[in-house]
Amino acid sequence: MAITAVMSARTRDDLMEHEFLRGASAQVHGVFDADGSSSVDAVEVRMRSLIAQQRPDAVYTCGSHRLLMLLQRVLADYPEVVGEVAMEQRMACGMGVCLSCVRLFDCATQSCPPPAASPSSIAKRLTSTSLAPW
Ligand code: FES
Repeated sequence: MAITAVMSARTRDDLMEHEFLRGASAQVHGVFDADGSSSVDAVEVRMRSLIAQQRPDAVYTCGSHRLLMLLQRVLADYPEVVGEVAMEQRMACGMGVCLSCVRLFDCATQSCPPPAASPSSIAKRLTSTSLAPW
């Protein structure tokens, strides 16, 4: 199994690829805040290039809402590629009643609320849209 990792950090010196990969063999593409290569637009160009070249079976991401939406947007063009996300989300009630941790996944064709949207606005959208199965 070949692994390609796109990892971000503020600078090249801050990249923690060895700490994260722990000896796993991977082709690492570092992207950095310092040179702008970690911007969503730049990462999208890189991801599209990597997917077109490598035709992966699956793509995974963790991190911000913008990366989640980027993955969804890119993989819409590659329906044969499985996509999974690990969300970073603050929780409030921890029981599923406040909706503060809910994120919509159907934003590829609709405008999305910002990550800090109010629970009531998310609840309103949940009643009018369906969540995509991930
Ligand atoms: S933290 Fe309240 S629903 Fe997730």
